[in-house]
Amino acid sequence: MYDAFKLDDKVAIVTGSGEGVGFEMARALRDSGTRVVLAELDPDLAAAAGEELGVDYVALDVTDSSAVEAAFRDIAEKNGGLDIVVNNAGTVLNVAAEDETDEGWRTVMNVNLDGVFWCCRAAGRIKLPQRRGSIINTASISSQVANHPQKQASYNTSKAGGVTLTKCLAAEWADHGVRVNCISPGYTGTPLLKVVEERNPVWYQTWIDGIPLGRVAEPREMAPAVVFLASNAASYVTGSNLIVDGGYALY
Ligand SMILES: NC(=O)c1ccc[n+]([C@@H]2O[C@H](COP(=O)([O-])OP(=O)(O)OC[C@H]3O[C@@H](n4cnc5c(N)ncnc54)[C@H](O)[C@@H]3O)[C@@H](O)[C@H]2O)c1
Repeated sequence: MYDAFKLDDKVAIVTGSGEGVGFEMARALRDSGTRVVLAELDPDLAAAAGEELGVDYVALDVTDSSAVEAAFRDIAEKNGGLDIVVNNAGTVLNVAAEDETDEGWRTVMNVNLDGVFWCCRAAGRIKLPQRRGSIINTASISSQVANHPQKQASYNTSKAGGVTLTKCLAAEWADHGVRVNCISPGYTGTPLLKVVEERNPVWYQTWIDGIPLGRVAEPREMAPAVVFLASNAASYVTGSNLIVDGGYALY
């Protein structure tokens, strides 16, 4: 492997890594030499994923800022520091704005915006004194466009906030040696998307018609972007939003 991509002996946390995109990101980081710890809301998923990958895992709700702070500190202490944090946990509700409840709006913001900030802040408190580290947030193509035909103003707004947060932290922490970037996946064939394909084929076909590459992504196709942004190959990359969407945002 080209040396700049090597991640040997780095310590990484990936949130929302019990399945889907986060699981594949964790697998790729492990295969690149990283000591990965999975941080996943569902304890059963966390255990199953940890055992499948042969890595440590912790049950963690990213919306609980005290729990995030404690878990990140504990992982850093046990592993002699913390190099890479991938804030990938996310949730979505497909609701028309006029029908959105306070609870629905808060749920999405809690996970996708507050949760990302709690994790970035906890990571920063460890990494700034170390004067090294990389943070990668999973945003979405929904940070750039209003998806259709489904309605999801809360999700799109939360992901746009995630991109702005990424830029702000990149600027604040650059002179501390900490890089902060995000990736924006397009439609990706996780278990959730497979349910939509079965239950709502019209939506699914509309999405496919809007993707120049003509298909949704495999979850593993999001992982190389994370390995790149985590590695020395991206030593001059901070505050960026790497779009991995098969060209969806082009139309
Ligand atoms: N699948 C897509 O088409 C797509 C497209 C763009 C962006 N994304 C983003 O990629 C990320 C992963 O999505 P996915 O499709 O793999 O979703 P997924 O639902 O398959 O997996 C998300 C994981 O996060 C966990 N999680 C949820 N809330 C959590 C919390 N509060 N604390 C910790 N973990 C929590 C879930 O238990 C699950 O294991 C999300 O941020 C999502 O918004 C997905």
